[in-house]
Order: sequence, then structure tokens, then C-alpha cells
Amino acid sequence: MMKIVHLTDTHLVAEGLNLYGLDPRARLDAAVADINRHHGDAEVVVITGDLTHWGEPEAYASLVDSLAPLHPPVIPLLGNHDDRAAFQIAFPGALEDAGGFVQGRRETAAGTLLFLDTNQPGTAAGWYCEERLAWLERELAALPSPAFIFMHHPPFDVGIAEMDRIGLTQAAAFRAVIEPHAGKIRHLFYGHVHRPICGSWLGIPTSTLRGTNHQVWLDFAAGDESLSFSYEEPAYAVVLVDETRVVIHSHDYLYDRGTYAARIGASAEKERAYALGFDAAAE
Ligand SMILES: [Fe+2]
Repeated sequence: MMKIVHLTDTHLVAEGLNLYGLDPRARLDAAVADINRHHGDAEVVVITGDLTHWGEPEAYASLVDSLAPLHPPVIPLLGNHDDRAAFQIAFPGALEDAGGFVQGRRETAAGTLLFLDTNQPGTAAGWYCEERLAWLERELAALPSPAFIFMHHPPFDVGIAEMDRIGLTQAAAFRAVIEPHAGKIRHLFYGHVHRPICGSWLGIPTSTLRGTNHQVWLDFAAGDESLSFSYEEPAYAVVLVDETRVVIHSHDYLYDRGTYAARIGASAEKERAYALGFDAAAE
């Protein structure tokens, strides 16, 4: 059984600054500490983009510092808020394909992990040019084992108009490359939407989760350019993989209102009395 941790949309700014009233560095530090405490045995931690909010060197420096204590190896990917050149200076050992994109492949006991770069300077939308499509086509054609794909922009609409407006621009071309290989792709992980979403696309299971700073409020009625953000809890996902399973747990790692024992095993009568008389404050 292999464990992967999925983090997304950390949106770091320079250390000490807040973003939308929240401290993205402190919230990522807390995630790193929680992952080390409970999931230090993960094979890899993947961050599916929007590592920073404005792509500034100071923000990447803060990201490097925040991730330094992480026990598992980390693979940071780019989102639309990132700056490829500033990222590559801060992370000289990061993924890089022959075209200079932050893309690559990693072989694991549970399969092949493919990492995609959908960043394009000057647009918040996802971009997957001919060069990247050709890279992906070669990788899929040569897959040594079933694959897991990680990317920032979902390659399909999610039903939130403003997010779909800044979705993957070359969605049709991307689909044409993926579809012949869909049977070999076990899961597609994405970011960008700042919400917990799961489903499937072309028969490929897909999922994303909340970011570690701000979230996107679920509002199907909002039109273009009227996206609402929220302060819902941040999360990271723990992915358990073996030959027959892909199981994804979402964990609200900043939750601090306590846990309680359910008294399972008590008689039905005692359990009923316990549940009805429950005093959360006394627990
Ligand atoms: Fe984001």
C-alpha cells in the first residue's frame, strides 16, 4: 500500500503578510507539521499549483522555508498564480522537461505519477500548448504502468461559471490526447477550484480539495466575474493506493473543536442515554 498526500493552492505571499485576512504561511506550516506527525511515511507530497499568490521571489522563499521540515519528498507544480522563472530559481531541483516546463514522471510501486504544467504567463486560464501535448502523448504512449495524473487546471468544466471561464483553454486537444489512454489512467488529481470535488471524466476518476488559505464558495448561480470566496476549513488529502484501490481521505487539519468517544459497545439503552444527555462542553 502506498500513501500520497495531496495539497493544493497554498497561495503564499511574502512571509509576515496576510492574504484575505489569513496567514497562508502559518496555514501551510500547520499542514506540514500535521503531515509529519501523521503521514511522515507518505511516498510523496504533491502540491497541485498556485504555490504563491503573485509569483514573487519572496513568496517562493517563504514556500521553500515552509516545506523544508517536511519529511516526505515534495513535488510542487505550477498554477496560474505562479511564475515559472521565479519558481525555478527557488526550486533548482524541481521537475523540468526538455521544453523547460515543470513536468515530469515518477515511478512508484503503485504506478506512474505524471506531473503536468498548465501555467501560461498573462492568463488565469489553463494552457496546454502543442509542445506540452506532444510531451504528454509521448509519456502516455510509453507508460510502464497505470498512471496517476496531477495538474492545476481541471481539463473539464466543474459547473461554477467563473472557474470554468478560467479552465483549460485547450480542453478539446487535451481530451484527444488523453482519451485513447483513459483505460490506463487510474486517477486525475487537480487544484484551482479551492473546493472538495470528486467525480469522473472519460471514465477516469478525478478529485480536488480545498486550498490551504482561502476557499471558493459553492454558488452555481453566480455569473462570470462574480466569484465568492469563503473561510471554510483548509484541508489536505491522504491517498491510499494499491493494486485494487484508490482511497482518498480529506482532512481538515486545523479543526480544533475536539473529538469524542461514541461509546460503541455499550448497551443500546446506555448509548441512547449517553447520546441524548451529551454535554459537549464537559467532554
Ligand atoms: Fe488557487
